[in-house]
Amino acid sequence: MPMCGIVGYVGPRDVSTVVLAGLSRLEYRGYDSAGMAVSGENGIERSREVGKVADLVRMLEANPLKGKQGIGHTRWATHGGVTVENAHPHCNSSSSVVLVHNGIIENYTELRESLLSEGVTFSSQTDTEVAAQLLGKIYSGDPKQALIELYRRITGAFALAVMFADDDDHIYCIRKGSPLIVALGDGETLCASDVPAVLEYTRRIVYMGEGEMACLSREGASFWDSEGNPLDKDVVEVDWDLSMVEKGGYPHFMLKEINEQGAVMRQTLTGRTEGEQVDLSKELSWTADWARSIKRVHLVACGTSFYAASVAERVIGLFTDLDVRVDIASEYRYRSIPIGEDTLAVFVSQSGETLDTLAAERFAKEKGARCLAITNNGLSSIAREVDDVLLLKAGPEIGVAATKTFTGQMAVLYLMALYLAKLRGSLKETDEQRLLREMTSMPYKIEALLENSDTVKLMAEKYSLARDFLFLGRGFSFPIALEGALKLKEISYIHAEAYAAGEMKHGPIALLDRAVPVVVVMPDDELWEKTLSNVQETKARKSPVIAITTVGRESYLKDVEDLLSVPATEPELTPFLTVIPLQMFAYYVALARGTEIDQPRNLAKSVTVE
Ligand code: F6R
Repeated sequence: MPMCGIVGYVGPRDVSTVVLAGLSRLEYRGYDSAGMAVSGENGIERSREVGKVADLVRMLEANPLKGKQGIGHTRWATHGGVTVENAHPHCNSSSSVVLVHNGIIENYTELRESLLSEGVTFSSQTDTEVAAQLLGKIYSGDPKQALIELYRRITGAFALAVMFADDDDHIYCIRKGSPLIVALGDGETLCASDVPAVLEYTRRIVYMGEGEMACLSREGASFWDSEGNPLDKDVVEVDWDLSMVEKGGYPHFMLKEINEQGAVMRQTLTGRTEGEQVDLSKELSWTADWARSIKRVHLVACGTSFYAASVAERVIGLFTDLDVRVDIASEYRYRSIPIGEDTLAVFVSQSGETLDTLAAERFAKEKGARCLAITNNGLSSIAREVDDVLLLKAGPEIGVAATKTFTGQMAVLYLMALYLAKLRGSLKETDEQRLLREMTSMPYKIEALLENSDTVKLMAEKYSLARDFLFLGRGFSFPIALEGALKLKEISYIHAEAYAAGEMKHGPIALLDRAVPVVVVMPDDELWEKTLSNVQETKARKSPVIAITTVGRESYLKDVEDLLSVPATEPELTPFLTVIPLQMFAYYVALARGTEIDQPRNLAKSVTVE
């Protein structure tokens, strides 16, 4: 399974309670079915249910599972539809082995055929059951050897947590490609796809590396590599606490995270600016000689992170003469473009686990590019493979739709762009001072904007029944229009498209009529008047216009249906403000439509499939 959440627990507490609580904290990773298995006096017992973790909880309340240890899973389907049979955990035919899986087993078709020819019967369509059946065949009493052999035989990306029926004191783990952590408590040990699942019990974490395996018991965990050599792993004390992964009085994580954006911006600047100067020398290994030697910058990312990178492309273009381009990660490897030692390749990924972005990073690295990761997870796969890392410091983002990490990404990318330009000697001191001064006051402006949420809410309610939306913007506002449309699509399921405002007349204008609201992102910058012409074109086709503009510009927009003003700022920094009403708009439209805001259908937080 691609994203999915895995939890395992061995210890004295009620196993079901711990596993289910962990699963609900990992539900952002996938939520079309859930299941758990325990092992204890009655051997292995398993419960699975289609739907959310809450559905599994209800089922277990009626038929509790009791055991000494347990593993659980919340699924985002790839191989095989959303059915109970395809839900995890999966067993082999004799139920001597049970496991949960996050990732994709790429050679599952050939393995399945060979197992079928040996007489194995399958009860699901999943790639995961193939691993369970194969492990059942391989296992002959030595779990460690069996896991090493399984690792040798399966290809693809996988994080597995495994229990054997003849051993109810140990959970075994394998990690390749998909994330997996081991958490060390006092007389109890857990494994999970991500930290929020374990924070209630401990903050002592071991991040499993590629090709590593582990054996968990109440006393702790031992680790070995794919050859069986023992590993001495570092224990990291994470500085997150439980309140960071709880809603803190907000009805949804998304609203909480939208409201945290001022703080995220402050946090991002801390330690990176000195007066009105940017200084990333503590975090980056770049020298002025190297910065002057490069010719190009490639920014590579997916989804919302791609839009943050698209804003950065424009910033870097403003302050350097570098050849800068931005690419969607899943396309980057398939283009024939110059990449080499003269290239800085920047990978923007909130999770640091997006497989498309990771694959693009490996590609650029192989070509000799110097790679930088901009991520919220310093221990993620991408962060561990690059030459340099800049952290977002946004704290955990649980809502599936990215909000505060978008702001964090833009803030880090701006600092990175200014620092690079400075090292190259192309940044004017006046520009540096002007922009840093303004970035420092940005958190207050963001917070002031957030206080206006009632206006956005009323507006959102008014348009919540629309079937299609168009979003327009020019220059810095084009990526923001794209992000506004993506947010609306993701959580309200309304069809929304974004165009560079100047492109509207080249086709999309044919869609306009009074049923299609058009959101125009038009802060006060040098393109304002050009965008104003697009507003007129839109009005002439009877579409209602929702304009996002800067305070002071309202009088020019008297004939638009709805207007939201953001505080004045430097033209290059408008994205930090214009995105806020768009996030809130999407949130309140979704609220009015009654959709699942934090866990939109078909989506998952980190996408570890290509
Ligand atoms: C949108 C969203 C996705 C992610 C994309 C990349 O709200 O969350 O579009 O931005 O899947 O994820 P990361 O940044 O983790 O690489």
